[in-house]
Amino acid sequence: MASYTDTIEMNASQQAMELEYRYGAHNYKPMPVVLERGLGVHVWDVEGKQYLDFLSAYSAVSQGHCHPKIVDALVAQAQKLTLTSRAFYNDKLGECEQFLCEYFGFDKVLMMNSGVEGGETALKLTRKWAYKVKGIEPNKAKTVYASGNFWGRTLAAISASTDPSSTNDYGPFLPGFEIIPFDDLEALENAFKSDPNIAGFMVEPIQGEAGVVVPKEGYLKGVRELCTKYNVLFIADEVQTGIGRTGKRLACDWDNVKPDILVLGKALSGGVMPVSAALADDEVMLTIAPGEHGSTYGGNPLACAVTVAALQVVIDENLAENAEKMGQLFRSRIVDLQKQCSLIEVVRGKGLLNAIVINDTEDSHTAMDLCYKMMEKGLLCKPTHGNKIRFAPPLVINEKQMKQACDIIEQVFLANA
Ligand SMILES: Cc1ncc(COP(=O)(O)O)c(C=O)c1O
Repeated sequence: MASYTDTIEMNASQQAMELEYRYGAHNYKPMPVVLERGLGVHVWDVEGKQYLDFLSAYSAVSQGHCHPKIVDALVAQAQKLTLTSRAFYNDKLGECEQFLCEYFGFDKVLMMNSGVEGGETALKLTRKWAYKVKGIEPNKAKTVYASGNFWGRTLAAISASTDPSSTNDYGPFLPGFEIIPFDDLEALENAFKSDPNIAGFMVEPIQGEAGVVVPKEGYLKGVRELCTKYNVLFIADEVQTGIGRTGKRLACDWDNVKPDILVLGKALSGGVMPVSAALADDEVMLTIAPGEHGSTYGGNPLACAVTVAALQVVIDENLAENAEKMGQLFRSRIVDLQKQCSLIEVVRGKGLLNAIVINDTEDSHTAMDLCYKMMEKGLLCKPTHGNKIRFAPPLVINEKQMKQACDIIEQVFLANA
């Protein structure tokens, strides 16, 4: 049978895009580039053109594409045992849990798959803790979120969202959610003071999807103090900021604070497969009993082998330190460029999680046009929330590659200023 795409003359890229459009749901609008291979900071399209990947699958491919040590761990484990379900023990889960607990400094971990499941786990833990430990009346527990937050696409996650494109026509939403402004300790304290049923505050140390919004110095320290003072759980959503991305092991490390629940995902597996985790100490984690939460694939031996390998790469290759160094280089180049280019309103970020805010309205096409032009020159990135372009390359990037990327940004911005 002739396929749909046989009827028109198309190159390989056009064919792939056409197929996705024809048979896939239209829930994404990708940049028009079809990738077939990746290694380190580079990806190649089906026509063989090379690009620097400055999105890293939204910070998941921090260890670089197809890192040989992570791929080796995947292949070796895939040939032995991939999935047992949690009906039985497997010989990899305990090792991985020990590694995660010791590295991040928590008593226990609960492994899931996608980032949003990690967040959902944190929310369920918070509610259990609210009733079993804090003593909140049944069904009265509340959790607080910052406006502009993003923690995924499930109904629980969007019940906390302030972004209409996430929430439109999906109601009714879950009750028990309260929103306060981001980076506002006074608003947080007022919320805590006015409602004894608040059990948790979930926050991204830097708001990634909102456009790499960096709070004032000391914000997380203030959050920690208020949560302790009002007996509220501090839940750090480090799905995007964690594991070296911001120049330290965790973004919370910049303020030397330990959250009560830490949510990780994305780079936990180096972009090889979906792995997420919620970490907490016993007082919180042991509120969930057997049969009360879980996932068929959560903590599978393949994910565990990959996770240990992916974290070991971050440690062995000093990727947090490299992120800090390369991030400084990136921001200093863009600050220099800003002096000659009125298109740049501001450059902001930490480590290798950065954004340029474009001097135009949120609904303008300027940022997207610039991304298309950078793509033509071999640099892949994408706007988030209209006029902000996120730049988040793999943390393995070296100085030469960073300079090459900055040269492309400079050329494109100056040509369009
Ligand atoms: C901070 C944060 N939390 C949670 C998520 C959800 O992760 P996932 O898409 O794997 O469900 C994301 C995804 O971008 C995120 O940035």
